[in-house]
Amino acid sequence: MKKIDKPLFERMISAAEKARAKAHAPYSNHPVGVALLADNGDIYAGCNIENAAYPLGQCAEATALGQMIMAGGRVVQQVVLSGPGLHACTPCGGCRQKLREFSGNDDVGITVCSHDGEILLETTLSELLPHSFGPDNVNEVGDNPERIET
Ligand code: THU
Repeated sequence: MKKIDKPLFERMISAAEKARAKAHAPYSNHPVGVALLADNGDIYAGCNIENAAYPLGQCAEATALGQMIMAGGRVVQQVVLSGPGLHACTPCGGCRQKLREFSGNDDVGITVCSHDGEILLETTLSELLPHSFGPDNVNEVGDNPERIET
């Protein structure tokens, strides 16, 4: 797991808070901001984007991953979440899997902060998603006769 120094960590908390301020969460009233540190050293942030058709809402992690991918980042090294309320806003199950896709070979630190930047939980992706199914679990070419080459 990547060791993050304090100034970088503070930049990530601040990026997550700024992203949270942009959340579109009028239905849940639960604005979430996420900051991802990628292997290129850049920080990508995202907020949740809800929709009047409720199931179409997008989590903050998905927004941040989209930002990272579009900017050319591929491996997530650390995640910081900023959520409202007193309960740690841990990544939902679906987002744990979405993060897993881009976690590379190392474990990923996940830090959950309150709305005012207090650290509520420090954990890792492998703790939140043990025995995960990731890119390496998908059959390699040759293993699966039904695999369609793209
Ligand atoms: N939410 C996130 O953005 N990330 C999570 O991992 C947990 C949940 C959002 C989705 C929805 O807009 C609101 O929080 C309430 O569930």
